Amino acid sequence: MRLLIAVAVMAACSLANDNSDDLLWTTEDIESEDSIEDHLNKETPFLIYTFKDFSVALFEQYNSDRKWNTNLLKSIKSSKQFHTGVVSDTIEVNKDSGTVVKEVSSWEELEDAFAADMSTIGDKKYSALIIKPESVVFVKSNHRVKRVSIKTKPSQGARRKQPTSRLRSKSRKDELDFPIVLPPYHKSEKYPVSEENPENFGNCLLYLEGITVIVHKADSTPGYVAALIGNNENHKYLFADDDVQCVATSRKNTAFDSVRGEYSFDVTVKVAPEGVVAVYDKSPMFEVVDSISFKLLFNTTSPKTWELVNVELSEITINPVQGSSYVNEKLTIDEAVSAKPKHMNVYSTDPYGYGCSDTQAVFYPVESRSRNKYQVGIAFHNFQVELYGVYRDEKNDKIRFSQNVNDCVGTFSAGSLMGIIVAIILASILIFAFLMLNSVQTMDRFDDPKQKQIVINVRE
Ligand SMILES: *[C@@H]1O[C@H](CO)[C@@H](O)[C@H](O)[C@H]1NC(C)=O
Repeated sequence: MRLLIAVAVMAACSLANDNSDDLLWTTEDIESEDSIEDHLNKETPFLIYTFKDFSVALFEQYNSDRKWNTNLLKSIKSSKQFHTGVVSDTIEVNKDSGTVVKEVSSWEELEDAFAADMSTIGDKKYSALIIKPESVVFVKSNHRVKRVSIKTKPSQGARRKQPTSRLRSKSRKDELDFPIVLPPYHKSEKYPVSEENPENFGNCLLYLEGITVIVHKADSTPGYVAALIGNNENHKYLFADDDVQCVATSRKNTAFDSVRGEYSFDVTVKVAPEGVVAVYDKSPMFEVVDSISFKLLFNTTSPKTWELVNVELSEITINPVQGSSYVNEKLTIDEAVSAKPKHMNVYSTDPYGYGCSDTQAVFYPVESRSRNKYQVGIAFHNFQVELYGVYRDEKNDKIRFSQNVNDCVGTFSAGSLMGIIVAIILASILIFAFLMLNSVQTMDRFDDPKQKQIVINVRE
């Protein structure tokens, strides 16, 4: 069992209405579902720097000139996880826990204090926090085994302008059940249709039942193998308010000037812990594990039409499985790559949404250590999206897609056309035969033995 250094903290009860920005980072190994906060009460050092007037904007300004190029910035960038946010309650530090709080008033002082701490910590793991001095209170208590109590939540305005995408913390997101609904109305009590929702929710809606992950291996048979992430209730998706960015003015008005712009949906799927194995011809080929994270970007390219213009894949992990050499090394994408979904054809016109049972895939190259060339593709299964004009009934707390849908399966599929053509051919044969029989007539004269024989002249 781990020994916790410290003792005790009181429940966070002060209603600090003065929210304070914070910057938190750690070199501890973090499981994807853990938050940094979970690591603060381990025995490794926890450094707290109180910085007068600290804000995320101030940090971004400092960093934008130096481009992660001071000791402090380098350490933050190379840490296992870091994020900026807002501390909603004061942070309660146990006086007897040995947690040191250093007060600084400039970035120079902070760099110096950090350098001094680093010289004592050396290579050990640690966590650190920068915050305003008002947000820290010291407590003396000894009935609980926590050295620090902290509750933070992602900041609103400040998070829009993030220096890197790593500042987006996965741990602050809600974990919701499949199927994916964005914005997650009714998925969580936080987002009832009837109440005020964040402005960036606009009037859009996306529904997605599953994601098909396809691995393409060049010069191989089979060349494509797919796995469907979706028909298992252990998959989850993560959501934070700013994952949906829809044009806010589209909420009440669907005139082009109110709806024009870019719409984006960030989707992060946590694959069930046991992973999803792709099967081809009854044998396992590869396994999809961890998280899949991608961003769909829509644009109103001309009045009354909109389309999916970009799909950015930022995270996917594919593991080899025993008994198959189709994928013989771990394939990962961990930095965002964009692709134009040329073949997906996700588009629609004004009062229509878009729906598809299975879309075409969009592919991304993956780096591979061996000579094999791999591409990873994603496609959407049972997918529907509408950017504006969604029907909402706030009184009855209901929201749904409008009735008009541009479906990717046209009314006449190859199968139905074949049926129609065959039916027409058979019916025309039947009609021809009927007309032929119908035109058979009885003769108007018959041979009579008492009269002259009928003679028919046949001439050639
Ligand atoms: C969205 O469409 C507008 C108007 O056609 C265009 O100016 C803009 O560059 C597009 N944005 C993207 C990301 O394609």
